[in-house]
Amino acid sequence: MNGRTLRVGLLGCGKVGGAVVRLLDEHRDDIERRAGCRLEVARAAARDPSKDRGLPLEAARFTADPAEVVSDPDVDIVCELIGGIEPARTLILEAFDRGKPVVTANKELLAAHGRELFDASDQAGVDLYFEAAVGGGIPLIRPLKESLTGERIRRLIGIVNGTTNYILTRMSEKGMSFSDALTEAQALGYAEADPTVDIGGHDAASKLAILASIAFNARVSSSDVFREGIAFVTQDDVQAARRLGYVVKLLAIAELQDETIAVRVHPAMIRREHPLAAVHDAFNAVFVEGDKIGQLMFYGRGAGGDPTATAVVGDLVSVARNRLAGTRGVGCTCFLERSIRPMAETEGEYYVLLRVEDRPGVLAEIAGVFARSGVSIKSVWQEGMGDDAQLVFITHRAREDAFQRAIADLRDLKAVEDIRSILRVEGEE
Ligand code: NDP
Ligand code: HSE
Repeated sequence: MNGRTLRVGLLGCGKVGGAVVRLLDEHRDDIERRAGCRLEVARAAARDPSKDRGLPLEAARFTADPAEVVSDPDVDIVCELIGGIEPARTLILEAFDRGKPVVTANKELLAAHGRELFDASDQAGVDLYFEAAVGGGIPLIRPLKESLTGERIRRLIGIVNGTTNYILTRMSEKGMSFSDALTEAQALGYAEADPTVDIGGHDAASKLAILASIAFNARVSSSDVFREGIAFVTQDDVQAARRLGYVVKLLAIAELQDETIAVRVHPAMIRREHPLAAVHDAFNAVFVEGDKIGQLMFYGRGAGGDPTATAVVGDLVSVARNRLAGTRGVGCTCFLERSIRPMAETEGEYYVLLRVEDRPGVLAEIAGVFARSGVSIKSVWQEGMGDDAQLVFITHRAREDAFQRAIADLRDLKAVEDIRSILRVEGEE
């Protein structure tokens, strides 16, 4: 510490890191008033330290070695914005070893190694803040962790990945192809360095694990989350949903059922009137349901350098205040051990589109398959005739294992030529 200046060591100076440097510079007086000290980027690490990033930061402060930043005695707070598991994990642990608090936006790391990192921060007696890890610029972590301490959260349902929401919005509203929409999302700075992390639902699963851990006071890891991405969602699916009054979204859902935690990420059809259906482009939203508060919705920009950097700067100010006061903020809140409910035991509604033989008795055969698995049909209709005959089913709530049994049996039924599409239907109750 140097008088009333706290020095930040920045690990990573890309989309988010660069925006943090700009915000700290732009709002330095306001930040000083709120933090009670100046916040200055003392050192910054990037793979290419000589690259001109157009930032208000002297070239001499850059290094290619992030470990040098962590060990620099002039660095008081470490801000990790490299992403991924390594070297981020080792660098953060090293910061704790040196008694330095950490601010990070790294959901992948927190969702996979949260327990280890929080234990290390507890042992060191320093803060680990991560508001930017979920929902970009939307304040979510602090409200869940602190403001809702008096609430018992039952369910979270959210759109927590900007890239996939952007792709699905463009496919639905502009008829754009999946790959063109992805290229746009990448150009706008929403996608992860490896976009399959977004498309495959991994990013959403990490964020859901973090949210569920806080909401249900028990550690949930990304590997606990059932996950399906959006790669199999076709333009036909999106348009069919639209015709039926639905939109397709990648949903992240966490529920507390009989004291066990169910966590899943998958594309789903939701009714156009549902508030989550109005979450477009790279916006994110998280619906929280609790005993006393009823329903709460958090909405805003969930991706992009600038929105995310506002959350990082907010954390830096909190950590700086705590540091000056010789205290810590609320640490890990996973006080309980709860088990994870297998996906097979969860319940949902399903949309199924089948290409079928067009002859008497086919509907009865298919209905019989659903009935034998205990899946009740809510609505059914035929589209097309002859070689183009298709049957569309929407089921009532059914257990996942029962539904999967029915689908396996339908694959063996001669009358079913092709299972064209299966999508979950959410938010109906
Ligand atoms: P970028 O890829 O834009 O930036 C990563 C930065 O880390 C770059 O400056 C890169 O250097 C540097 N870097 C990578 N590897 C090393 C290394 N081994 N040593 C030193 N520096 C390294 O990522 P983002 O800014 O988009 O993301 C940063 C973090 O924020 C990630 O955890 C991400 O998940 C999270 N996040 C991102 C959001 C977004 O919308 N972009 C939103 C919310 C969270 P160089 O520039 O030279 O390549
Ligand atoms: N790639 C992420 C997204 C960035 O698209 O939501 C924000 O975490």
